[in-house]
Amino acid sequence: MEKQSPIGFFDSGLGGISVLKGTMRLLPGEDYVYYGDSANAPYGIRTVERVQALSRHAAEFLLEKGAKALVIACNTATSAAAAMLREEYPELAIIGTEPAVKPAVQAHPGGRILVMATAMTLQEQKFFDLWGQFRDEADIVPVPCTGLMEFVERGIRSGPELETFLLEKLEPYTKVPVDAVVLGCTHYPFLTDAIRRVVGSVPKIYDSADGVARQLGRRLEEQGLLNDRKNCGTVTFFNSSEDEALLRLSRTLLETE
Ligand code: DGL
Repeated sequence: MEKQSPIGFFDSGLGGISVLKGTMRLLPGEDYVYYGDSANAPYGIRTVERVQALSRHAAEFLLEKGAKALVIACNTATSAAAAMLREEYPELAIIGTEPAVKPAVQAHPGGRILVMATAMTLQEQKFFDLWGQFRDEADIVPVPCTGLMEFVERGIRSGPELETFLLEKLEPYTKVPVDAVVLGCTHYPFLTDAIRRVVGSVPKIYDSADGVARQLGRRLEEQGLLNDRKNCGTVTFFNSSEDEALLRLSRTLLETE
């Protein structure tokens, strides 16, 4: 493994690009290889065993591309497979993604905090542990959003279909004032504007990208694997789907502010 090797990212689809963007802001000199498993998305409705098998396959794919570290840019795959992958690759820096509950609670002690995520993320032990850690400090309300990631995969980030969907999911929770909304799925940051229209201007919206980037930077530094070159690195996209449009959409999402 060398400093010049790329960093591997994977997600069930294109959502992890929101995490990749955060990492590129912090570590612009690195090369990145991104694997989107859109052919098998969504992960959130599958069994844990299936998500583990798909995550193992994604990790093998990225290691074959020479990845020096792995970012599981998916909350669902992190819940199901991070521990397994760390056991299988004990030397490798493997950074998972979890809902940004901690910064939300710290900024809004005693507040009411919605956590939007897939059903699997909200049902797994990892989330219960996180909830258990902070439940005395804030009112943490899980909001399962099955069906929402599909809008991003289809390139839909605004419009009546999405707004109706979000209204249906979020309205039951917004009747009582909300202080913060945690985007506990890496697809959702691409829908921030649409979510903002439904929750209003008051709640602060949190995602996991900066936390993952900082953690990755620390691990690479510890391992002496930070790429110290000054010029900008590259991003190479792969997708398990044969639909070429997904690779074009990946680029568009990467370049969208
Ligand atoms: N991007 C995903 C996450 O962070 C998963 C969406 C899905 O495949 O259900 O949880």
